[in-house]
Amino acid sequence: MSLEQVHSQIVSCTKCSLHENRTNAVPGEGNRNAKIFFVGEAPGRNEDLTGKPFVGSAGKILTQLLEENGFSRENVFITSILKCRPPKNRNPHQNEIKACSPYLTRQINLIKPKLLVSLGQTALSFFSKNSKLSEKRGTLFDFENFKVFSTYHPAAVIYNRTLLSELKKDFKKISKLVV
Ligand code: URA
Repeated sequence: MSLEQVHSQIVSCTKCSLHENRTNAVPGEGNRNAKIFFVGEAPGRNEDLTGKPFVGSAGKILTQLLEENGFSRENVFITSILKCRPPKNRNPHQNEIKACSPYLTRQINLIKPKLLVSLGQTALSFFSKNSKLSEKRGTLFDFENFKVFSTYHPAAVIYNRTLLSELKKDFKKISKLVV
């Protein structure tokens, strides 16, 4: 199956109730040959409206962090655990993650990135079930045949500006891990 086929399955998916209220599903976007693959939590309002990942305020921070380190949105891949927006941006439910995550697994196995980057607790929990972000952040661990680097979700910076310098340090590390 190709990435395009996975994405067309995602946009017509009805595996959980989140499809009922979506404007657009958000498969993700970026480079088919990306070395770095970013995984957030779920689409928010702007993503639901546009069908594109990380285009709201968290997305601005992510784009800036990428560009500061010599990357662009076009040479990485960006997606989230869930492909449809939960109502009022509530946390994903386990049944939704279970229904949706096979799409993520297929995307990862097609792109075969050098590094997966989990953004925030929801993404971390998918890759490492009982891990806490406070303990795993800034570290590398294995997921199947891939390496995962865990950091904060860029949205966390919106609520706590002091995290920005930590996030910047993590992105510097990430850029060194893929050279
Ligand atoms: N937050 C996410 O986790 N994913 C998006 O696509 C946008 C915001």
